[in-house]
Amino acid sequence: MGAGYPVPTGPGTEAAVMEDPVKQPSIGLANEIKLPNLITPLPGPNAKKIIARDTAVISPSYTRGYPLVAKSGRGAIVEDADGNTFLDFAAGIAVVSTGHCHPRVVEAIQKQAAELIHISGTDFYSPNMVDLAERLAAVAPGKEAKKVFFGNSGTEAVEAAIKLARYHTRRDKIIAFYGCFHGRTLGSLSLTASKAVQRKGFGSLLAGVFHIPYPNSYRCPYGNPSPCNCVESATILERETFKRIVDPEEVAAVFIEPIQGEGGYVPAPKAFLLELQAICRKHGILLVVDEVQSGMGRTGKWWAGDHAGIEPDILCVAKGIASGMPLSAMIARASLMDWKPGAHASTFGGNPVCVAAALATLELLETQYIENARRIGEFLFSRMVDWPARHKIVGDVRGKGLMIGVEIVRDQKTKERAHDLREMIVDRAFEKGLLLLGAGENTIRVAPPLMIDEEQADFAARILEECIREVEKSA
Ligand SMILES: Cc1ncc(COP(=O)(O)O)c(C=O)c1O
Repeated sequence: MGAGYPVPTGPGTEAAVMEDPVKQPSIGLANEIKLPNLITPLPGPNAKKIIARDTAVISPSYTRGYPLVAKSGRGAIVEDADGNTFLDFAAGIAVVSTGHCHPRVVEAIQKQAAELIHISGTDFYSPNMVDLAERLAAVAPGKEAKKVFFGNSGTEAVEAAIKLARYHTRRDKIIAFYGCFHGRTLGSLSLTASKAVQRKGFGSLLAGVFHIPYPNSYRCPYGNPSPCNCVESATILERETFKRIVDPEEVAAVFIEPIQGEGGYVPAPKAFLLELQAICRKHGILLVVDEVQSGMGRTGKWWAGDHAGIEPDILCVAKGIASGMPLSAMIARASLMDWKPGAHASTFGGNPVCVAAALATLELLETQYIENARRIGEFLFSRMVDWPARHKIVGDVRGKGLMIGVEIVRDQKTKERAHDLREMIVDRAFEKGLLLLGAGENTIRVAPPLMIDEEQADFAARILEECIREVEKSA
């Protein structure tokens, strides 16, 4: 299936609105629009006005890179406030897995909203919450039965995992990795070690959290030549950490992203993940795998950890789970969920409308889009894999499925990170109608909706390479 979904018809739908020329909202969302079309300088006049108002009232802590003012979206296309259309390879930070406003997701939301918007799963039962927990438990890795806790965001899934790990093990120490991002509430922020600005100014965080270097096949933290399987990044626990810093008997959990997201789209090698799992098992430490960004089919399998065959004790899921509706899940082996009523809860977690969107999303992922992510991901990667040989500012291209990172360097030999060049490339792509985001200090994150087709992948690869070439010339 390409970007053009079948357009829903009936009162109030876009197809109905389009028949009326006065109400016709825009040029951008017709059924078959698959590629960008820019009709004003960027930002356009409407966008400029909104940005000026935004500056006056919206928290300055957000990190807007370029001036996209999004008004509507369909598939992989986003239309801005001035009628410019963009090809979206950012997907709302890897969230809109089925594309923008997939008709089946919209239909599920509308139907549920008309039936019941809220009841609170904390105090009452709800049928579709059970349906979703059953579906998630069935696709989570590992043979043991699972139980699910629902929250509203990635950070809440991580908070729940921190609390469950401490509660179940009656241990309080946690190991996390440099470069990983687990969220911004104070518990998850204590694990996050992505950028100092995210921690600066907030005082002391959770005690008993220890960080070790994340494996990086391209930049081995132990100085081994690239590519490296980075097993040492796991064995350091027994060689150093457990001897000098913390006794393993006090460690509740190790938290890891199987592919580092915000840290720069860095996949952890299979050998490392298997070694880490073995060390955790040996010491009764829970392996908590944060698949908030890498999960829900983005890598061409349900979970990035599936590529290595690891079986987390606890799995954290959010972003792509409900195509943009706020929902997260902490999925744990059933025998771990021994906390008592009242130990943890959420008023909104598992909201029926979000859950309805998630059920529709899971269906689409299972029947079409995980396989599409694998297939188009391979195609896209094949278009990019030789960039380090052809472009002196591309140090590394890596990833799985539709989670691909392009690392920009000043010099391939020294691997000096080129943050400024990365920013120039991402800005230039926007000016050509391609939406991208950075990840880490100097990596371009390629994270489109999982429903893109070959034509869109080809277009994005061409535009991105054109931007790299232009910036390379000026560097
Ligand atoms: C791996 C990972 N964990 C947790 C989070 C936090 O998610 P949220 O922003 O929904 O709280 C993110 C967000 O980028 C993430 O990438």
